[in-house]
Amino acid sequence: MKVFITRKLPDVAEQLLVKHGIVVDVYEKDRPIPRRELLRRSKDADGIVSLLTEKVDKQFIDNLKHCKVIANYAVGYDNIDVDYAKSKGIFVTNTPDILTDSTADLTVALILACARHIVRSDEFVRKGKYVGWKPKLFLGTELKDKVVGIIGAGRIGTEVAKRLKAFGTKIIYFNNSQNNKIEKYVSAERVTLNKLLKKSDIISVHLPLSSLTYHILNKNNLKFLKQNVILVNTSRGEVIEEDTLVKMLKQRKIFVAGFDVYENEPKINKELFALDNVVLLPHIGSATFEARFRMAELAAKNVIAVLSGKKPITPIY
Ligand code: DGY
Repeated sequence: MKVFITRKLPDVAEQLLVKHGIVVDVYEKDRPIPRRELLRRSKDADGIVSLLTEKVDKQFIDNLKHCKVIANYAVGYDNIDVDYAKSKGIFVTNTPDILTDSTADLTVALILACARHIVRSDEFVRKGKYVGWKPKLFLGTELKDKVVGIIGAGRIGTEVAKRLKAFGTKIIYFNNSQNNKIEKYVSAERVTLNKLLKKSDIISVHLPLSSLTYHILNKNNLKFLKQNVILVNTSRGEVIEEDTLVKMLKQRKIFVAGFDVYENEPKINKELFALDNVVLLPHIGSATFEARFRMAELAAKNVIAVLSGKKPITPIY
């Protein structure tokens, strides 16, 4: 059996696979594998560990000779044509739950960074501009008593709500499905998306990317935002019409926006660099030692399960 891992991951993935007698091929460079090389090296694999930077589309899937499982090293799987993989009898798995806390922590950090100008303040000090205490230096906003709108109340949205509740906020949320798990943990009101946009002082986006959520926030509804809202997105960039958001940021219709993800990742709209009311992160929601170790471990375990004739642990379908 052979498994192709499309990027170097925490060692545990390779170690587990090798322990199970599996031959492992790993793309050795720390950057996305060129497409031709990806197709060449994955062709004869029985299992693949993929990253969100690889397009697992029809061409990729048709190129596989006898692959039984594609284990995505991410909770999101919008990079994979899941229906097509399914039609070819290939299992697709992801890494849910184990990165929830890391992503929720990062989201709260991003909200606080936006609310209190943490990044600009740091830059200010480093540039030697701090010459003494000033009554109006980097005035921010408290979280207490603010209305927080959670868009997408799944695992991560729920954990963010739990954390923000401790700051004395009021939580409202929008969720397409009837999954009201969030209300088990915090008192929260389910509202329509438009109502959430109109009422929230702080908005945090936690949506998986799909045809239903693509540009779910766009010029037709972003116009409802309160003046001085804080908006952060740690899910997928494509759920927000980025051009509209940039325009609003330039017009100061938004207090501060925090991005961990971008519409055309890794390309970033250059206009964002010129704005001082944005905090820009390089898609690091799950980037903790703990989460990345567990993600590597779970991806490998999913592959091992399928290649041993068992059901995967966290299948997508
Ligand atoms: C995911 O898992 O989907 C994140 O975006 C990367 O960890």
